[in-house]
Amino acid sequence: MALTPIACFSVLMWTSATVGAQPEATRINVMEDEDVILPCSIKAQTIKAKGFDWKTQDKKEVFLYENGQTYNDGLSGQDQQFRGRVFHFPDQIESSNASIVIQGAKVADSGTYTCRIPSVSAEIRSIIQLTVGHILKDRTKENIPGAAPRPYVTTVDQTNDWALLQCEVDGAFPEPRVEWQDSDGHVLPSEEPQVSEKGGRFYITLRTTVTKSGNFRCVATQEEIFHQIYTETFVHLSGAASEPSVTILHQTKEQAVLQCVVRGASPKPDVFWLDSSGKVLPAGEPKITERGGSYDIILQTTVTKTDRYRCVAKQEEINHQIHQEIYVHLNEVPTGWIVAALIFFVLLVGAVVLLVILCKKFNKLKRDKEQQRQTETY
Ligand SMILES: *[C@@H]1O[C@H](CO)[C@@H](O)[C@H](O)[C@H]1NC(C)=O
Repeated sequence: MALTPIACFSVLMWTSATVGAQPEATRINVMEDEDVILPCSIKAQTIKAKGFDWKTQDKKEVFLYENGQTYNDGLSGQDQQFRGRVFHFPDQIESSNASIVIQGAKVADSGTYTCRIPSVSAEIRSIIQLTVGHILKDRTKENIPGAAPRPYVTTVDQTNDWALLQCEVDGAFPEPRVEWQDSDGHVLPSEEPQVSEKGGRFYITLRTTVTKSGNFRCVATQEEIFHQIYTETFVHLSGAASEPSVTILHQTKEQAVLQCVVRGASPKPDVFWLDSSGKVLPAGEPKITERGGSYDIILQTTVTKTDRYRCVAKQEEINHQIHQEIYVHLNEVPTGWIVAALIFFVLLVGAVVLLVILCKKFNKLKRDKEQQRQTETY
């Protein structure tokens, strides 16, 4: 019994020592779907042997490193919420860096996290108060004052190999973070953003050069008001021919002159006209112009039948083919009618000839009869 106060006292001492040595909580704010690094490290001690673990305040197991193993490669006990989403930095272990990254933060991840590294003085090396903000996507100025409007995206310059894209975000407050991203959400290296401030609002222009075809996004994020908005643009670079443009140059009742234009294709495409049965039509000499290895081709053909015609651009080398169709209606006389008219004409001629022969026969008969009558009278 006499020991109890001492035991109590030691527990108190130990607790206060631990609590007293606790680091200040660090606040970290991120947006939904972002990756967040929770920092934790210790000086002059190796975590390789001692290991470390991360828990939430409500005792959920977030991450454990023990004897070179983690939850990701064998250890059990990790909370379902964090499974497959939390990683440490193996290359930082030697420098006793016990930081972790939570991938694709969720609003539910918000809370307090503690990092423990077994140690004599203070086990808790880091306390993180994480707030994961829910993003109000695509809300405009009218909904939230200061929210960035949808970015304005333009292609400033383009060749076969690259495109210079520009993004403008006008009149936002607080100042948004403006980024270019590829279709996988990776942030692209960009030029230094140009930022100006007018009437308490920020105007930001950000340029990037892309070197492959695909969808690219300019994203404006205002973490403070949990607002994010983006504009997506498609960049077409490979030199693959785009859809030909086809037109009827001029048309009479009997024929039409069709024109097909293929622009900015590289390598040089084969361009030809087909009728609806897939037969290649005779066409004039194609007009070819070349500019920096990229070809413009104009091909005309004359058609005399009502049909659906197709202009095809084919680039064998890059296994690319694309076409555009046009329907041509001509007031031609249908062949059926011509045949009918011909038959009618032949029949008509036949009938006339027959009539003439019959007439002659009839006249001869009449004359013979008259002669007979005259002979009888004499
Ligand atoms: C620990 O590693 C992370 C990830 O590489 C890094 O961001 C952080 O700065 C490192 N901390 C220290 C103290 O070196």
